[in-house]
Amino acid sequence: MRAFLRPPEGARMSAKRHESLIKTPKQLVTALVLFFVGTIIVIVLLAQLATSGRNYDEDAKSPEAVAKRIKPVAEVNMGTAGPAGKILKTGEEIYKSVCTACHATGVAKAPKFGDRRDWAPRIKEGQKELVRVALKGEGAMPPKGGASELSDIEVERAVVYMANAAGAKFKEPAAAAPPARAASGKVDGKRVYESTCMACHGTGVANAPKFGDKKAWAMHLTHGTEHVYENALKGKGAMPPKGGNLTLSEAEVKTAVDYMLEAVK
Ligand code: HEC
Ligand code: HEC
Repeated sequence: MRAFLRPPEGARMSAKRHESLIKTPKQLVTALVLFFVGTIIVIVLLAQLATSGRNYDEDAKSPEAVAKRIKPVAEVNMGTAGPAGKILKTGEEIYKSVCTACHATGVAKAPKFGDRRDWAPRIKEGQKELVRVALKGEGAMPPKGGASELSDIEVERAVVYMANAAGAKFKEPAAAAPPARAASGKVDGKRVYESTCMACHGTGVANAPKFGDKKAWAMHLTHGTEHVYENALKGKGAMPPKGGNLTLSEAEVKTAVDYMLEAVK
């Protein structure tokens, strides 16, 4: 009887052998390496997907080339403004650098990009009304999407871009006054904060730790600053990678974090 209850000797042997396969340190290392390589490949593919086909990316890589190309016009219009202030961005660029943070996924009930149902009742209000709201803000929608340095024209272009993607036939505004931007091209945490992060961190949208709120920030600092930089760059929960502005460099994101942390010292 006992012999029937016990599994056959051969089965027990192979079960043991199988177990020892995983336990061999070399096998474990190989499995881990394969896992990490796989993860990295996925991240690289995602990163390529996120940045593919965008020519503003190339612009960002060669600011000198851009500055040279538009120099004559820029000097007439802008006086002393730095490289960052010389380009009046397109609606698509503004959307991708600022508005996408909330409108891509519909954070705090923002009308979702390309969603005709979300946009139809708003489009009926007309271009003028939507631009007014985008400039002045309403509810959880911050004035100019939180990017106070944008010119009115740029905001209107972004509204037209978003509305038209959801079926509207709004007209591009004519180019007029160039945007007022910080005069230095130097990385400036306050400027990055105000242009990108303030939209959520200014008031604490979706539980973002509020600017200057020591208690809120203390909870996020328990694992040290390196960890906090990492999360600002890669995203965490409702916090999008780089605050949703993928045109920011790593250094720019870090100075914005420094600026926010300085305020809760
Ligand atoms: C911090 C999140 C956030 C960001 C960033 C943001 N929006 Fe919004 N937006 C919202 C929310 C939330 C609403 C819905 C407001 C409501 O209906 O009360 C909204 C609504 C709108 C509307 C519809 C207004 C109406 O009358 O119904 C427009 C147009 C708009 N946003 C444009 C923009 C533009 C342009 C940008 C970028 C420059 C931008 N938004 C960035 C959150 C955001
Ligand atoms: C669309 C809204 C939104 C924008 C824009 C945004 N954040 Fe956040 N952020 C959040 C939310 C929400 C959290 C809380 C995430 C959590 O703890 O799950 C957060 C958390 C953080 C944290 C704490 C991370 C941690 O380790 O807990 C840092 C640092 C941070 N954001 C930096 C930034 C910077 C820098 C910018 C601008 C470049 C930015 N954020 C823009 C929503 C936003």
